Amino acid sequence: MTTALQSRPAFDVRKVREDFPILKSLVHGKPLVYLDNAATTQKPSSVIRAIGKYYEAQNANIHRGVHFLSELGTRLYETARVKVQRFLGAADPKEIVFTRGTTESINLVASSFVRPGLQAGDEVLITHLEHHSNIVPWQMLRDEKGLVLQVAPIDDRGELVLEEFEKRISPRTKLVSVAHVSNALGSVLPVRKIVEIAHRRGVPVLLDGAQAVAHQKVDVRALDCDFYAFSGHKIYGPTGIGVLYGKAALLEKMPPYQGGGDMILSVTFERTKYNHLPYKFEAGTPHIEGVIGLGEALDYVSSAVGLDAVAAHEHDVLTYGTRVLSGIPGLRLIGTAREKAGVLSFALEGVHPHDIGTILDQEGIAIRTGHHCAQPVMDRFGVPATARASLALYNTKEEMDALAAGLKKVAEVFRS
Ligand SMILES: Cc1ncc(COP(=O)(O)O)c(C=O)c1O
Repeated sequence: MTTALQSRPAFDVRKVREDFPILKSLVHGKPLVYLDNAATTQKPSSVIRAIGKYYEAQNANIHRGVHFLSELGTRLYETARVKVQRFLGAADPKEIVFTRGTTESINLVASSFVRPGLQAGDEVLITHLEHHSNIVPWQMLRDEKGLVLQVAPIDDRGELVLEEFEKRISPRTKLVSVAHVSNALGSVLPVRKIVEIAHRRGVPVLLDGAQAVAHQKVDVRALDCDFYAFSGHKIYGPTGIGVLYGKAALLEKMPPYQGGGDMILSVTFERTKYNHLPYKFEAGTPHIEGVIGLGEALDYVSSAVGLDAVAAHEHDVLTYGTRVLSGIPGLRLIGTAREKAGVLSFALEGVHPHDIGTILDQEGIAIRTGHHCAQPVMDRFGVPATARASLALYNTKEEMDALAAGLKKVAEVFRS
């Protein structure tokens, strides 16, 4: 690790910004300050080029062709799978299933892992800070099959209360499914401990890594999680592509998620033999350019820039941003966990978050306002919505100053 870091040039945010063409944009005549990265990240030129090149010179359907382009496309697609495997530290490429994103990955686990054999009264344990995509699939199983959804509480800082979490594991718990990093608060959950506790009780664990993978190194074998889900677009890759990592022993036993082409070995009207892993879970023509773009994005963060350097840089910007925002009268930070990644959620006394977002937009500053698809978290903190600035590797302390200056303007407008 040290060698790889030493051989890479030091992290230079000015240079990194050059890799993202959109960051040169003007919005309402002002330089774009893009702070909506938890919703989606911007794309580096290498990803944009790889997708263009695919359509200009490499396009064909994969897996079934014997001609040059089909074989080339297949090779690019499967090479990207190996890149994901290495990125996550998985044991084998067959443990990497391509999906449409985190949402589909969680739904796949709900359908193919939890649903079969589920008895009324069986439980899934989540936390109070989950994204709707890690709540609603379980509620659908509740309505269909009588699954019981258990929810572990968070404290006023937005940290998981670990003892309460442990108390909610029962002999009926079929799965623990928790966010690695909260999209609404930025809290980093103690996922290694969560896995340890759950495994001690014989319960498998799904980690929702949508907000984690772009901000810190993830090693699924070191975490020992059973499933790990993430989305390409939140780590500088294309939309519509995501990943489900699953331990091979579990994936082998799970029925397919969808039926169709590519997920079969043979079909007669009497009987269908399903394909091997991971193809059993990839029915139909996949998002080929999405997979290629994702592979390129992972190369970008792990090789061209380096996730350790990203984590250190973002930590600096987040600490600085927390300090400058805390100095604004009437501003309340929502989510003050001791370990946080990438997110500054806040409320400004007397101002609706949507008004904050609209006024900041006039300054060229893009933040998100609303419930962030995590309404139970909003309820927990007694607010209908927050304003959220979320970071990526290209953000700077100067942008935090611009945000603070914009917020002071907002306060002046509403208090004059
Ligand atoms: C923590 C978390 N989980 C899941 C999702 C869903 O991701 P996607 O919409 O890419 O499927 C998001 C998206 O914001 C998220 O932040």
